Amino acid sequence: MSRPAAVLTGLGAYVPPRTVPNEELSRRMDTSDEWIVQRTGISQRHWADPGVATSDLAVEAGHRALKSAVSGGFGDIDMVVVATTTPDQQCPATAPDVAARLDLGTVAALDVAAGCTGFVYALATASAALVAGYAERALVVGAETFHPFLNPADRGTAVIFGDGAGAVTLRRGTSDEAGAVQTVDLGSDGTLKDLVGIPGNGSRPRSTRPMQPDDQYLYMHGKEIFAHAVNRMAQSSSAVLAKAGWDVDEVDHVVGHQANLRILHALARELGVDRERLVCHIDQVGNTSAASIPLALADAAAKGHFQLHDRLLLTAFGAGLAWGSAAITWPEITLA
Ligand code: ACO
Repeated sequence: MSRPAAVLTGLGAYVPPRTVPNEELSRRMDTSDEWIVQRTGISQRHWADPGVATSDLAVEAGHRALKSAVSGGFGDIDMVVVATTTPDQQCPATAPDVAARLDLGTVAALDVAAGCTGFVYALATASAALVAGYAERALVVGAETFHPFLNPADRGTAVIFGDGAGAVTLRRGTSDEAGAVQTVDLGSDGTLKDLVGIPGNGSRPRSTRPMQPDDQYLYMHGKEIFAHAVNRMAQSSSAVLAKAGWDVDEVDHVVGHQANLRILHALARELGVDRERLVCHIDQVGNTSAASIPLALADAAAKGHFQLHDRLLLTAFGAGLAWGSAAITWPEITLA
């Protein structure tokens, strides 16, 4: 039976032009192209030039998503949600600036901070607003400028993260339409918050001790995160499929958070999905955190991998710890 649902109408992606191949990093730190490719599947990432911030990438991706939506007969946006862990500043949020620079007027605009799961949380937030009738049309952006937060002395994180932004437009519609967000599953475990984070600018370090130089950098317990990522994404994927009433064999594409190719392969094993159904874009962009799912969607769409009405499982995991999945069908989309 048809229900009110958010429907995907546009898609856009942007990565800064500067590519940083593994060889460049291996000249700067004790690592190698061989290690990075074997352990992560990453060949290169994009890093923004000095002076470029997350909102700049978000505006580019948002502009492309809006153009893509306009070509499908899309109207005005009345809500902007930006998922990011690397906002332009602590306060104000990045979303109002993105909305203003996209000439969207005085729309509702908020940031969602859920680490690498940010895009799924933002998609859920906007979808809920559309279904509830608080908004008619939304722009959801996942955008990150991660490289300034990477400790150049920490090869465990410096080789992984990249910068970029991806965006989708949504409108209020019904669940039987191609492009409908069928349902979502979200979760978190704050008892494991210390496994990955960026302390700087938080009230905790400010209220307890003088700021330390390393507070500005991302720290990550990669091995522990790896295991939680596989388990939580697999559990959340199963949960969202059950809610959607889809059998795993009916899923055409699994779009997992692009953190590590080995995580994606382990996820496929856990779900019993063959690797051909995995959408993998990590080799070109690294882990772009909240941008990774829309960037992977745009890459696969540009390559013509998605057909109208295909069933997509989106699933992500990251800092928080937080995880989330969404079941969507694929619409007619013309990339700008
Ligand atoms: N180059 C060469 N060697 C390295 C590098 C590197 N860049 N990094 C680590 N090593 C070494 C280690 O020092 C260690 O050496 P040792 O055995 O002599 O002690 C060895 O390689 C193995 O290190 P591990 O940390 O065990 O490596 P692992 O295979 O676990 O890979 C990685 C590390 C890539 C970080 C992996 O654990 C991972 O991908 N984790 C998940 C990350 C993730 O999902 N993040 C999402 C959340 S982030 C967010 O939300 C913002």
